[in-house]
Amino acid sequence: ATNGSSEVRVWCDGCYDMVHFGHANALRQAKALGDKLIVGIHNDAEITRHKGPPVFTQEERYKMVKGIKWVDEVVEDAPYVTTLETLDKYNCDFCVHGDDITMSADGVDCYHLVKAADRYKEVQRTQGVSTTDLVGRMLLMTKNHFQKGDSEYTVAKDEAMQNLMKKCKINSEGLSNIGMDHKAKGSPWTGSCQFLPTTQKIRQFSDGRGPSPGDKIVYVAGAFDLFHIGHMEFLEKAKSFGDFVIVGLHTDLVVNKYKGGNYPIMNIHERVLSVLACKYVNEVVIGAPYEVSKELMDHCKVDVVVHGQTYIPSEHGDPYALPKTMGKFILIDSGSTVTTEKIVERIIKNRLEY
Ligand code: CTP
Ligand code: C5P
Repeated sequence: ATNGSSEVRVWCDGCYDMVHFGHANALRQAKALGDKLIVGIHNDAEITRHKGPPVFTQEERYKMVKGIKWVDEVVEDAPYVTTLETLDKYNCDFCVHGDDITMSADGVDCYHLVKAADRYKEVQRTQGVSTTDLVGRMLLMTKNHFQKGDSEYTVAKDEAMQNLMKKCKINSEGLSNIGMDHKAKGSPWTGSCQFLPTTQKIRQFSDGRGPSPGDKIVYVAGAFDLFHIGHMEFLEKAKSFGDFVIVGLHTDLVVNKYKGGNYPIMNIHERVLSVLACKYVNEVVIGAPYEVSKELMDHCKVDVVVHGQTYIPSEHGDPYALPKTMGKFILIDSGSTVTTEKIVERIIKNRLEY
């Protein structure tokens, strides 16, 4: 290590706007190249200057990255072009970035300085997920594009939309699948998804350990679609009620039943990785029953079930009826009003900027 100690400190930097499991996977790989991972995040002004305003505020972006389990420290206001002074200031040995080129507003490679000094390493970018891709999926959900019978025509007229479709490799067949028929072949809710989930990826993201004897077990359930700052704040609070947090993820079909439209935006595999990347989460139930049952409570040895302030769809009965009668249900306030739907709204309003 450059700092004279035996500890290797790794530097990563970026915007980390709309954090997704691709970012988390880059951070995971970076951490594996050393002992401590330090992540520098650009502030709003810096991002605006180089590529236009971010969707999330710097405070939200800092908080999201701090919640990723491979991150040891976050450095705020990191410069867009990585300098050797920055690496030295934080005692970092080298800088790590995904294998794509990032340019500053002046057209220089953001990593030219650290590359020239041989203090740069690359990790593999995660295929099939990016902010552009996620924004594309959200735009594909806009009602006016799909609830008429002429979606392809409407979309084809829209140049911004066409560019996005090209970037996301969506063709009009994919469009009809997503927009017109939920029961169509392929991936109905996340038709633009090119990400290939594997058991290895789940293994890499998982802690691979169960609760220790005496651990108080907290259970939460939901969609956790487009994993965001509201989820992060909620899980941090949920964790404070116990030692081991289990997240029950509803299947795509269940989420679609209560959210409607083309939700969820991320399929269950993607939602598993997003939730596993959170440092407050210890285990995930992949496809949890909507109703929190006796079997589930016993099997997972649940001590307390926690839910936030968001609406609980109860047309077919209260899913938390059982834990409530057992006196094991707590309603908490995450302090955040961000929801998946609000993010989609924000993006659709600003869509021409992407
Ligand atoms: N990254 C990755 N895989 C992805 C997306 C991002 O490995 N699918 C990596 C980038 O290569 C970079 C880090 O995540 O090392 C954070 O960079 P940031 O500037 O926030 O991300 P973008 O490259 O802009 O990602 P996106 O296009 O998804 O916004
Ligand atoms: O809506 P979703 O099913 O993804 O929510 C998962 C959990 O996160 C729920 O308990 C919900 O109440 C909570 N949440 C929260 N604050 C937010 C968003 C979600 O407490 N802003």
